[in-house]
Amino acid sequence: MKNIVVFASGSGSNFQSIIDATQNGSLNAHIVGLISNKSGIKALERAEKYRIPILVISESEFHEYKAYEQQLLLQLENWKADLIVLAGYLRKIPGSVIRAYENRILNIHPSLLPKYGGKGFYGINVHRAVLEAKDTISGCSIHIVSEEYDKGPILEQAKVNVLVSDTPEALAARILEQEHLLYPKVIETYLNTFNEN
Ligand code: GRF
Repeated sequence: MKNIVVFASGSGSNFQSIIDATQNGSLNAHIVGLISNKSGIKALERAEKYRIPILVISESEFHEYKAYEQQLLLQLENWKADLIVLAGYLRKIPGSVIRAYENRILNIHPSLLPKYGGKGFYGINVHRAVLEAKDTISGCSIHIVSEEYDKGPILEQAKVNVLVSDTPEALAARILEQEHLLYPKVIETYLNTFNEN
């Protein structure tokens, strides 16, 4: 069974959907740890509930960025991570980690990338921009993380119709429902490709 490490900075509802999928057997993987840059967030409570090991780590605790990177790499190595899954992680993943886990880091983004990706496009800002542009369709994307923010190869997308009555929050909620369905499925499919090599 492959080992997954999840990174989250917030509520962790996607993290929960991944936990649920491992529990009901639709995702054949072991969540070996959760990494967060913040304490006191709901994602950590979820990890505690399921006895998933936690690392809270922030670059601000380190005098040198390099020491931070090394600590992250060491933890990933200790947990024997096969795949890193970003689930609402709001910090930049260091280049050294991206290079060490090339094609082994996935991210979910709440828009149809390449639209509304990159700097400033996170959380509710994304949905606000979609409504301002009067797009009639939005959705979510799962992509491989590369050193260029939100630009790695897209694995899968789910589309969601934008309603005239939509608020950014209402649209976000409908997209989140699709995220919860899509992410565990894509992770399972992606992990299966590891066995072929
Ligand atoms: C999701 O909308 C995801 O697409 C984005 O951050 C949000 C995380 O939500 N990257 P949650 O913490 O999983 O509830």
